[in-house]
Amino acid sequence: MREAGRIAGRALQLAGEMVAPGVSTYEIDRETERFIRSCGATPSFKNYQGYPATACISVNDQVIHGIPSKHCIIQAGDIVSIDLGAFYQGYHGDTAATFAAGEISPDAQRLMDVTKESLMKGIAMAHAGNRIGDISYAVQSHAEAAGFSVVRSFVGHGVGTQLHEAPEVPNFGTAGRGVRLMAGMTIAIEPMINMGQCDVRVLQDGWTTVTKDGSLSAHFEHTVAITTDGPVLLTQP
Ligand code: MF3
Ligand code: CO
Ligand code: CO
Repeated sequence: MREAGRIAGRALQLAGEMVAPGVSTYEIDRETERFIRSCGATPSFKNYQGYPATACISVNDQVIHGIPSKHCIIQAGDIVSIDLGAFYQGYHGDTAATFAAGEISPDAQRLMDVTKESLMKGIAMAHAGNRIGDISYAVQSHAEAAGFSVVRSFVGHGVGTQLHEAPEVPNFGTAGRGVRLMAGMTIAIEPMINMGQCDVRVLQDGWTTVTKDGSLSAHFEHTVAITTDGPVLLTQP
C-alpha cells in the first residue's frame, strides 16, 4: 500500500503541476494515466462502476466526480479538484487535492486552506484506540468554525484490496462514536467542503456532483495507515 500510495501521490503531484489557464481537464487525465501505467500500476477509477477516466477533475462548484473533457478548459481564477487512485500489486492508493489556476480570490484560497487543514485534523485523530467519530468530529468542527459546510452524501472509506471498503469515514459526526480504529487498518479520509450550503446534486451525466447553491467546493484526500506509531500518510509523493 505504500507503493500504491506513492504512485497515486506522485500522479496527483504531476496533475497539480499541469493545472493552469488554457489546459483542458482531458490533457491532465491523459498524463495521469500515462504516469500511473509507466509505474506498472493501473488507474483505480477507470471502469469502476463504469467511470470512463483515470482522474475525477471537478472545477469550482463541481464537488467530485467531474469527468475530464477536451471541452473543459481551465480558466484563470478556477479552483480544480483532482482525485485519482493507483492499483499496484493488489492494493489501492486513493488521493485528492484542490489546486488554484492562476490568481484566485482570497475566499477561494481560504476554502482550499481550511479543507486541507480539516483533512490534517482528521488524520491527527487516526490513532489506534480512537473511533471513526473522532476523525469525523475533528474534520467537521474545523470546517464549520471557518463558516463552511461539510458535504454529507459522500464519505471517506476503508481502502485496501478494494477501492472502497468498510468502514465509512464521514466528515461529520460525534467524537467517541463509531468503529474503533486498530493498527493495520487503512482508510481514506476525504473532506468535501462547500463555501455555501452542504447540499449537492448529480448532473445528467450520472457522475458530476455539484453544489446545489452554485458555491465553490474543495476536496482533499489521503490514504492513511493506522499503526502502533500513529497515522502514516501513504499517498505522499
Ligand atoms: N471519489 C471517490 C473516492 O475518492 C472515487 C471515485 S470512483 C469513480 O473514493 F469511479 F467515480 F471514479
Ligand atoms: Co479519491
Ligand atoms: Co476515496
